[in-house]
Amino acid sequence: MKIAVLPGDGIGTEIVAEAVKVLNVLELPLELEEAVVGGAAYAAQGHPLPDSTLQLAKDADAVLFGAVGDWQYDKLERSLRPEQAILGLRKHLGLFANLRPALCYEQLTHASSLKPELVAGLDILIIRELTGDIYFGQPRGRRTAVDGHFPGAEEAFDTMRYSRPEIERIAHVAFQAARRRGKKVTSVDKANVLETFQFWKDVVTEVHAQYPDVELEHMYVDNAAMQLVKAPKKFDVVVTGNMFGDILSDEAAMLTGSIGMLPSASLDANNKGLYEPSHGSAPDIAGKGVANPLATILSAAMMLRYTLAQPEAADRIESAVRAVLAAGLRTPDIYSDGTRKVGTREMGDAVVAAITGKTITG
Ligand code: IPM
Ligand code: MG
Repeated sequence: MKIAVLPGDGIGTEIVAEAVKVLNVLELPLELEEAVVGGAAYAAQGHPLPDSTLQLAKDADAVLFGAVGDWQYDKLERSLRPEQAILGLRKHLGLFANLRPALCYEQLTHASSLKPELVAGLDILIIRELTGDIYFGQPRGRRTAVDGHFPGAEEAFDTMRYSRPEIERIAHVAFQAARRRGKKVTSVDKANVLETFQFWKDVVTEVHAQYPDVELEHMYVDNAAMQLVKAPKKFDVVVTGNMFGDILSDEAAMLTGSIGMLPSASLDANNKGLYEPSHGSAPDIAGKGVANPLATILSAAMMLRYTLAQPEAADRIESAVRAVLAAGLRTPDIYSDGTRKVGTREMGDAVVAAITGKTITG
């Protein structure tokens, strides 16, 4: 099984190194090959997603991704910015289904900005469509307005659009995921205003006919944003478009106290996937050895589960993460009184120790 390892920028290299350490200790037939991506790739090869990196990702069974983005590249023209690397990988690999679980670990209940009783036991799955919507819709650009409020003025525009097959396939992913969980899907739209999302709602409703055992509810995105902080445990699977999913998945992540804990999977039609932490490159703490590697380590677990068909290995990683938390080890982002503050490497070592059966001391 071949894995393309793309650490990227900022804390990406530090956290991916820990996930690689964890994968290596599992004694599975994994072949890991590393390549540059994002700002690091622009610096080395003049493009955020060099052909050689894209080819490696295409040839691999799965991609383990760190994070991309750094302030020093924000002034580059859009096509050369680090973010284009992840958008390009999603597009070229057809990774249309983005799974972002928001799970509140028992030991971290108090780390949430919400009252503990609202988040204790929280387990929701945000499924975000990842290759359509206003992110990729054409046309887009800048031009001189011919109509609107200010004809003749300079304007910019993007296109929000979804085709029936795009909505159908993500709806199937959501209903099938719900079947394995709480059997409820909340489809988030803006059907009261947008044609695209009235269509979304209609198509999701049609697909639902094939899943009578799963409950479907529809919710407008503004209300969903509100309900997520009011009563998050009422959700099970949330399915939505690319842009709403971008926003709501960050909100859902924060409910759990730390975005540093949350993995994600981006899957194609054959369960090939790119696995990355839900958080970004955090250039402000890069190189300091304080980043939380657990989201990336848990992303490696998702990779073993969804793409590499190694559920037992995935279980081992996830149990090890619970064990280090139970032992009181905390990176600064999840630290609280009475626990032990550790750095990135020490956290990775502790997970390795838990997997190999050594005792962890808090
Ligand atoms: C995410 C990120 C990306 C997105 C950026 C880095 C392009 O915010 O994965 O959520 O908007 O999809
Ligand atoms: Mg985002």
